[in-house]
Amino acid sequence: MLNHRFLVKYENAESFVNGAVEFIQKHVKDKKVFCALSGGIDSSAAYLLLKKAGVNVLPVFIDHGLMRIIRGKEEREHIKEAFPDVMIVDIRDEFLPQIYGEGDAEEKRKLFKKAYSSTFDAIIRAEKCDLLVDGTILPDLEESFGVGMEELSETMSFEEETKLREAQKGKGFVKSQHNVEITYDVEATVQPVAPLTKNQVREVLDYLGMPYQLVYRKAFPGPALAARIVGPVTEEKLAFQKKIHDIVESAVDDYYIEKHGKSMIINDKGEQEPFQIFAATFEDVMTSKVTGLRDGMRTYDSPKIVKGEWDFKKLVKEGKELKDFNRLFYLLGGKATGKFDAVIRCINSLDARTANVTELPIELLVKLKEKLLEISEVRNVYFDVTEKPPSTIEYV
Ligand code: XMP
Repeated sequence: MLNHRFLVKYENAESFVNGAVEFIQKHVKDKKVFCALSGGIDSSAAYLLLKKAGVNVLPVFIDHGLMRIIRGKEEREHIKEAFPDVMIVDIRDEFLPQIYGEGDAEEKRKLFKKAYSSTFDAIIRAEKCDLLVDGTILPDLEESFGVGMEELSETMSFEEETKLREAQKGKGFVKSQHNVEITYDVEATVQPVAPLTKNQVREVLDYLGMPYQLVYRKAFPGPALAARIVGPVTEEKLAFQKKIHDIVESAVDDYYIEKHGKSMIINDKGEQEPFQIFAATFEDVMTSKVTGLRDGMRTYDSPKIVKGEWDFKKLVKEGKELKDFNRLFYLLGGKATGKFDAVIRCINSLDARTANVTELPIELLVKLKEKLLEISEVRNVYFDVTEKPPSTIEYV
């Protein structure tokens, strides 16, 4: 199997799009391409470039039931609006019973990986697709191979890539979940957005005339809301998680739109601010373990709770210097009743490899806490003030 990657240095959106269209036409010709859309910006950009190149492409969205709700609408409805040609494959009835009850982070990841790959395989076969396109971008490549773009070539075989990855093993933090390591029964994989950083993907989407809701769409993990439900996933927690997530993301979006005219800015460190904003669901923060990042390895440990004076810089400094804990959670408030704790996470980042805590005004956080406490199931509300490292962005 082959991998065709567009590997040019990005200069501006216009020249990138022209080059990518040429690259796609050269490798796709009259073949049929399978393209999975996740709702995220990388796969959306890859799909739009294929459309622009005028090739035969089948866009597919897999609805496993754990996507976030944004402004009251499930992701499948957003996708259908943005890309009316999309084929929606509903695997909720098979997938949800598998994930319910699963509390182990790695097992959650494995279930998603298996569901995605077996569904992709079945569609590729049924629809007789010759090629698969994916939205791998530069940070994914660098993390997977441990080398930069200049050390890769436009077309590489699976064997060449395995050799390169093996040679790099142990040299750094190599994530196992990236799509570059899964193979499908197709002649080749095509990666038209491979040389782009996240922010350049946004520039390309903007150039292609996409609405700001897509251009500034916040990153979302492959294991979806299972990454934001700490401990076993249940039907009740999933419904709760969707509800609190939407409240938190929409409120922060509105704050940025009001203040800056858009829901994401490039701050003076060059970061996308906020890069991600979400809520997470805990049965009880006090007895939970969450992920951290130490010496390039994922670790599981308890969070430390602080309350009292709100001093953003002091709290972030304390979070940075944690020794025996993975996170520092600032208690915004709570009530005696309720079943679940909600944690608000808001970070700025270039590409998710490191992250800074977004300095949201305390008035906004207090407003959010009050809104969340109106929900009967909410017990305590916290704000996570830990940078990556020593924490990770998600909780599992
Ligand atoms: P962490 O939690 O590792 O997240 O700091 C870094 C970025 O990756 C996303 N993320 C994932 N994406 N599969 C994915 O496709 C995963 O298993 C996964 N875990 C985290 C996360 O949302 C963040 O943008």
